Amino acid sequence: MNHDLCYLKPNVLAEPLVCDWYAWTHLIQPVTAGMNVVDRHLAIMKSFVQSPQVHAAAVRNPAMVGGPFISHPPARVPDIKALLERTQREQASLIALAGAVKELDELLRQEAKGFSLEPLYPRVPDLLRGYVELVYDLNHQPSFRLLEPLLYRSPFYDPGLQSLALTLIEGDKERPFVLSTPRIPEDGVLFVKRPFHHLGIDELFRMKASPRPYDHIRELLGIADGPDEELFRTFFTPDAPAPYPAYDGPGMRTRYFGHACILIEARGFSILSDPVISYDYHAELPRYTYSDLPDYIDYVVITHNHQDHVLLETMLQLRHKIGTVIVPRGGSGHLQDPSLRLTLQKIGFGNVREIDDLETIEIEGGTLTGVPFFGEHSDLDIRTKMAYMVRVDAGSVLLAADSCNIEPRLYEHVQKITGDADVLFLGMECDGAPLSWLYGPLMTKPLDRKIDHSRRLSGSNFERGIDIVERFGCKEAYVYAMGMEPWLKYIMAKDYTPDSDPIVASDKLLEVCRGRGVVAERLYGEKEISLS
Ligand SMILES: [Fe+2]
Ligand SMILES: [Fe+2]
Repeated sequence: MNHDLCYLKPNVLAEPLVCDWYAWTHLIQPVTAGMNVVDRHLAIMKSFVQSPQVHAAAVRNPAMVGGPFISHPPARVPDIKALLERTQREQASLIALAGAVKELDELLRQEAKGFSLEPLYPRVPDLLRGYVELVYDLNHQPSFRLLEPLLYRSPFYDPGLQSLALTLIEGDKERPFVLSTPRIPEDGVLFVKRPFHHLGIDELFRMKASPRPYDHIRELLGIADGPDEELFRTFFTPDAPAPYPAYDGPGMRTRYFGHACILIEARGFSILSDPVISYDYHAELPRYTYSDLPDYIDYVVITHNHQDHVLLETMLQLRHKIGTVIVPRGGSGHLQDPSLRLTLQKIGFGNVREIDDLETIEIEGGTLTGVPFFGEHSDLDIRTKMAYMVRVDAGSVLLAADSCNIEPRLYEHVQKITGDADVLFLGMECDGAPLSWLYGPLMTKPLDRKIDHSRRLSGSNFERGIDIVERFGCKEAYVYAMGMEPWLKYIMAKDYTPDSDPIVASDKLLEVCRGRGVVAERLYGEKEISLS
């Protein structure tokens, strides 16, 4: 027995997986999961097994970055083939569910012509009966509403497929793009078969700061004797990390952790937005890491349900120290807009609160207001998106994330209600991916290429961005959420050059801001901003 107290090393990488694919929110809700398994995972794995050399060439080509190509070498075909077969076996019910959605869509296309939908209920594919309500919009366009709470309580939701892959990470080494490349067995990688809601996961990550007996965590996570245990042991250390000095200054301190992750601290509260945090290891580019977070985070706020803003890898590691997770109100039942509240609750987040447009929450010494967020979702009816205004006596901060200012009148109306923002954080990823990149697997008919490319996941360009700066009378404007940090390639697949539209547009915004006396910077790595 080993009762020695130990800490989890700060460079233990912990990837959440569902059937060995990197977990993001659409892999949790059963219907979006089934659609992604069929049209993303199975499609990519079949293609790799058939033509591994094509994948090898594509992953070497910078123009193909983020495309549907597996970055494992062709020699790993047997492993991918094995995963493909296991997926077809273990996710058979989700695959069937995805087929039922396709059938239902076809039924509605053929039969729902504006007359009563009642006669169609007996013809709904059997797997979906009782889980969908058939609806029209006011122009008689048919659709269906998913009863998500029921689906999560059905056999379609199987947390037994969830696991964590643990390994030590040294430096900003390239991790494969996670929407295209599954995890397969490799030296130094330990698969821990525990569902995301398992309390052992909280206990494991608590050990980054609080020591526990080695055997205690080993038993909780069910690590067997032998090579697994030998590897598991290497993830721990007797060395205590430096304690985090709680912020006790006047006013409000804001720290940029990378991408859209901002920590706001004031006397009495801490708020962390869109947590995406680097591990602790030696690296050239300075950044804040897990060790730069307070012991307790009062609020985590999530701006929208994209994989680079709700990063389950980071969320699970922080779960034990989060007070409340604030998410935009969703729950419309649309296939393309799974409820983020339900997703997080199902994977073990106890206190998730939805916030509406212009709803204000009182926090210690200040307020947090939900600010409407337009665009960046390819014109799909997706409600789960929100910018946030944090206001204390010392000033105000607007976290606008990927909000695309496609209709400036929106913020003209909003500013009259919320007032100005001293500090703006704005994403300017203005040549976003086409509709199919993220939502393609949810579509049941072939997508016209021209339509696909006209409907993008784009943030604000220069004109739209500068309008927000002016509208809210910002004194400081920071471009963030650009996916530029080297440790983020695995979720963003971004490779900018100085000529890339987002760089050109944000350079212009910075120049114009500075010309008008507004402090402006495109954030990269780390940054601290104080308001007093
Ligand atoms: Fe986004
Ligand atoms: Fe984003």
